[in-house]
Amino acid sequence: MANRETFGSNKVAILAMAGSAIGLGNIWRFPYMVGQNGGAAFIIIYIISCFLLAVPILMSETIIGHRTHQNTFGAMKTLAPGTKWSLLGLLAVVSPFIIMSYYSVVGGWSIDFLYKSVFEGFKIADGQLQGTSFGSFISSTWGPIICHTIFSLLCVVIVSAGVKSGIEKFNKICMPVLFILIIFILIFSVSLPGASAGIDYMLKPDFSKITGPIVASAVGQSFFSLSLGVGTILIYSSYIKSKENILNSGIGTTAFDLMFALLAGFAVMPAVFAAGIEPGAGPGLIFETLPFIFAKMGFGIPWISSVVAIFFFLAVVFAALTSAISMYEAIVAYFVEEKNMSRRKATLLVFFGTWFLGLFCSLSFGPLSHIKIMNLSIFDFCDKFTSNFLMTIGGLLFVIFAGWKMKKQEVWEEFTGSGKYKFNCKIFNAFYFILKFIAPIGVGVVFLSNFI
Ligand code: PFF
Repeated sequence: MANRETFGSNKVAILAMAGSAIGLGNIWRFPYMVGQNGGAAFIIIYIISCFLLAVPILMSETIIGHRTHQNTFGAMKTLAPGTKWSLLGLLAVVSPFIIMSYYSVVGGWSIDFLYKSVFEGFKIADGQLQGTSFGSFISSTWGPIICHTIFSLLCVVIVSAGVKSGIEKFNKICMPVLFILIIFILIFSVSLPGASAGIDYMLKPDFSKITGPIVASAVGQSFFSLSLGVGTILIYSSYIKSKENILNSGIGTTAFDLMFALLAGFAVMPAVFAAGIEPGAGPGLIFETLPFIFAKMGFGIPWISSVVAIFFFLAVVFAALTSAISMYEAIVAYFVEEKNMSRRKATLLVFFGTWFLGLFCSLSFGPLSHIKIMNLSIFDFCDKFTSNFLMTIGGLLFVIFAGWKMKKQEVWEEFTGSGKYKFNCKIFNAFYFILKFIAPIGVGVVFLSNFI
């Protein structure tokens, strides 16, 4: 592919991959999963899963993408011509499609909160939080759909501008801002009266609460957070220049993502306790908690609360967009490179498809709440089906492919830059052992646990 775009440098690639990884999964999903699954013990399993299971999958996708410099389907076709492995490439087009549909709905909620921060503010009157009505908003018909549409259109604008001028530029600006904002919120949150119970909840593990499904959720969360098994890491790695050290990209992405999840957890959980909100409240957790912090932050002066809230929800929207565009890109690259579509046309196609499915996810909180798939609402089904099932099977197949189907020599060449990176050479054998044995068994067990 002669004129295929690349990221400007490895630093930018890490920023983009971290941009894909860091998103609603860190700010919205991680805190409520921690709250629903027992706090500190969940976090410990999550961290172990990140390094033992998630990193091998991430590196497998990186190796495949970086070796072929192609879209997910093309990459599998090139490395295993004439085999069924190309179906894994297709799975990595379908999975981001489904995730994007409901992700964009939550991205839309953030846009609504941003709007409310600008025009309504968050006030506390008579000890009650005013200006938020999360439950009634998400169960209404038009508001969430309009916001879902705006969010999807923003993705279209960025992705149709291309890898360098769209994706790279956007990540370069948003990612540093995001870190500064979350640290700012964290400092305030831990200093609220009553916050220490939340800090304890995050730090003192109670392993008696741990069950099989909780382990599976922690592993699923680590895959979701690192955008694994669905081709987004593969596609971004395919834009990394051949000469770059991909171990740095992989470890850098994991480290940033983990750091951000913990920062978000420590920003949200102390405030949850300070506000007297139930930590297991589920998906609405941050949308109900954060306005409380913002109201308090203003010291009774509404415009201060509003300014902080605006910055925060702007950050949430940015974080969601940097992840969403990676999902778009995985699908768009397939249509551009395999079906010879123009980037613009492919982006619009992805827009219409994900937007349409997203309508049902959005309406499943209100008018369509009676529709259940395997006892779950449409939204919950898409969420659980992708993070517990598609991401795990995708991740499992990627590690099996890199560990068992690719030649050891090929993996070595990618991992060490053909011997150029001395540190990578030193740890290669340990990495290869984990890739070949530990990761497939670990991910396989987690996958099977879905059926127990
Ligand atoms: N990792 C993203 C987050 O934590 O918000 C979510 C995500 C992005 C999942 C891209 C899957 C994906 F392909």
